[in-house]
Amino acid sequence: MESYDLICPCHFGLESVLKKEIVKLGYEISRVEDGRVLFKGDREAVARANIFLRTAERVLICVGEFTAKTFDELFEGTKALPWEEFIPKDGRFWVKKAASVKSALFSPSDIQRIMKKAMVERLKLRYGISHFEESGNDYPLRVFLYKDRVTVALDTTGESLHKRGYRKKQGTAPIAENLAAGLLMLTKWNKTIPLIDPFCGSGTIAIEAALMAANMAPGAMRDFTAMDWSGIVDKKSWYRALDEARSLSTPIPKSEIQGYDIDPAMVRISRENAERAEVLDFLHFQERDVKDLKSGHREGIVVTNPPYGERMEENEELHEAYRSLGSAMRGLKGWEIYVISSYEKGIGLLGKKPDKNRKIYNGMLKTYFYSFSMSR
Ligand SMILES: C[S@@+](CC[C@H](N)C(=O)[O-])C[C@H]1O[C@@H](n2cnc3c(N)ncnc32)[C@H](O)[C@@H]1O
Repeated sequence: MESYDLICPCHFGLESVLKKEIVKLGYEISRVEDGRVLFKGDREAVARANIFLRTAERVLICVGEFTAKTFDELFEGTKALPWEEFIPKDGRFWVKKAASVKSALFSPSDIQRIMKKAMVERLKLRYGISHFEESGNDYPLRVFLYKDRVTVALDTTGESLHKRGYRKKQGTAPIAENLAAGLLMLTKWNKTIPLIDPFCGSGTIAIEAALMAANMAPGAMRDFTAMDWSGIVDKKSWYRALDEARSLSTPIPKSEIQGYDIDPAMVRISRENAERAEVLDFLHFQERDVKDLKSGHREGIVVTNPPYGERMEENEELHEAYRSLGSAMRGLKGWEIYVISSYEKGIGLLGKKPDKNRKIYNGMLKTYFYSFSMSR
């Protein structure tokens, strides 16, 4: 079976957890870079990676790499790639996204335009046609330039993998689903340990935890661009991966996962999202102010994403939310508390120094994932 070089972009800071996920799926890692993990895999790997990976952003097939410092070199390098092995005569192809770092070529629109022209040139010769109807399936490409090295990749995913399909409604500052899953994987949490998110918003962290507890594949409820392709990934690979996902899920995990929010509308939304994700039965959502956060368990884990100063208005209410979290934490003796926030002033208001912090980018926003051990 043909082996591809596969590339999975992820949030900056989650590379180590994504790497572990890929190894667990049974694939060999070729390289880990900032914001992406590269590995080898066949067509089954494309289907399985899309369906099973919780922390990846998408699954790309590397079409080729070359160096280009000028637009002529970009054109020739693109034209030399074996496009006919990937794109059929009627395919609709375009460079959906071009990103450039520390490279001579940096204008995304010029890179996109020149590469498309080069691909058309190559395919015209190979298919012996002068006009492309582009009436068939989509073949979107993603291109990264780093220090003039051009990596050209075909996107098998389409809509980003964080869109699992369950979050139809959300609040003003939701956390991406794949980031929520990654945060949980960075903690000591497992399904036997009680988990609380006291600022649950649309329920993302709790729902991702429930999906993990029930071993439910995050991509089993959605479609992917490559599902429509006639070549590269055959239909059987998708069916097999979906069967595997169904056979692995354990519908009644013994877990205690709770989400609270001060806003009753968010509690309602969390329940609706959890129902769509088919995990509502494993979860408990409740309207509750963080100042009333407590638990009868001798140990447990809090993973939470309190309001951020940047996105929400900075006011006394925001400060009070952090102060209240701090005093509630002091009551949770024996627990581990994990907080993702970009609001350093808020962390200062908790009244306890974090034991550790880890830099993670939530999109363009620099955040820290802080951990606190609450000794008994
Ligand atoms: C950044 S959002 C959480 C987003 C969530 N992770 C998601 O994915 O949707 C912060 C949440 O904290 C809630 N909140 C604000 N003050 C609160 C308080 N004192 N107690 C509990 N929840 C509060 C807000 O209603 C909001 O839903």
